[in-house]
Amino acid sequence: MKHLLSVQDLGAEGVHEVMRLTDSFVEVSGRAIPRVPALRGKTVVSLFYEDSTRTRLSFETAAKRLSADTMTFSVSSSSVNKGESLRDTVETIEAMGIDAVVVRHKSSGVPWRIASWVNASVINAGDGWHQHPTQALLDCYTIRSRKGDLGGLRIAIVGDVMHSRVARSDVDAFAALGAEVLLVAPPTLLPASLEGWPVKITHSLDEVIGGLDVIYLLRIQRERMTEALLPSLREYRAVYGLTADRLRALRRDALVMHPGPMNRGVEIDAEAAEDERSVITAQVSNGVAVRMAVLYLLLGSGADLVAPPAGDQ
Ligand code: CP
Repeated sequence: MKHLLSVQDLGAEGVHEVMRLTDSFVEVSGRAIPRVPALRGKTVVSLFYEDSTRTRLSFETAAKRLSADTMTFSVSSSSVNKGESLRDTVETIEAMGIDAVVVRHKSSGVPWRIASWVNASVINAGDGWHQHPTQALLDCYTIRSRKGDLGGLRIAIVGDVMHSRVARSDVDAFAALGAEVLLVAPPTLLPASLEGWPVKITHSLDEVIGGLDVIYLLRIQRERMTEALLPSLREYRAVYGLTADRLRALRRDALVMHPGPMNRGVEIDAEAAEDERSVITAQVSNGVAVRMAVLYLLLGSGADLVAPPAGDQ
């Protein structure tokens, strides 16, 4: 595989392969010196046209733990501000000698465009409302690490599905691994068409919460809303928020997940984010090992998978 643009590029077997490799990189990440020489001599560039904390830092950490060189592109201090086009920017960076581009952009489809312009591997770190494949991989890994297997689990994805690339990638990944996926949202926050989505739909969280294995809260993406889709955030929380009352209705063995960043007091209350069933911090930690696995799959030669660099033993 040369690029990772969507979950569908991987299919169920590819997702399982990433998770098996991730087990090795979780072990590496737990070492006193969490570094292996697998990508020595490779260069990975982060090309983020949209803000990010988790994904950008996690990819950069993953690349460093694999001994790759990293380059960080900051739009705010780049020649994009002088009008340089996306294509010219990408081709300029590639001319410096790179092996992979990790790209986030507000427009759906940009990673596919970049893949058609460069010889480097392209990894989609989030394009518009469309896809966020490494988020789905780290979510699958986190559920697998707590539940063993996703097959037969009942997973509810709650909230702003319409604007969510995380929801689109998670639906594909969870369904591919055999989970039953339920979308829970007001009609205004669902996509206009759900044709072909392997999901069930409900507008009532209270009707389903007691039967869930996993509740996955989505961030309300106010920055992507061009019209009033909600009466108010207070009313949204009252009907769809994971409040202390709803937490009591959730099974003792259920998992609480959120991709971050959280709007505390809107889709998730502080009690829920900090509850013992919350795996939100584990999602972030697993993200580094998952991204190591993805970089290794795309750029690795197959040798030196987990041996420490000479001198680090
Ligand atoms: N989950 C996620 O993509 O977070 P960031 O926007 O901080 O990268």
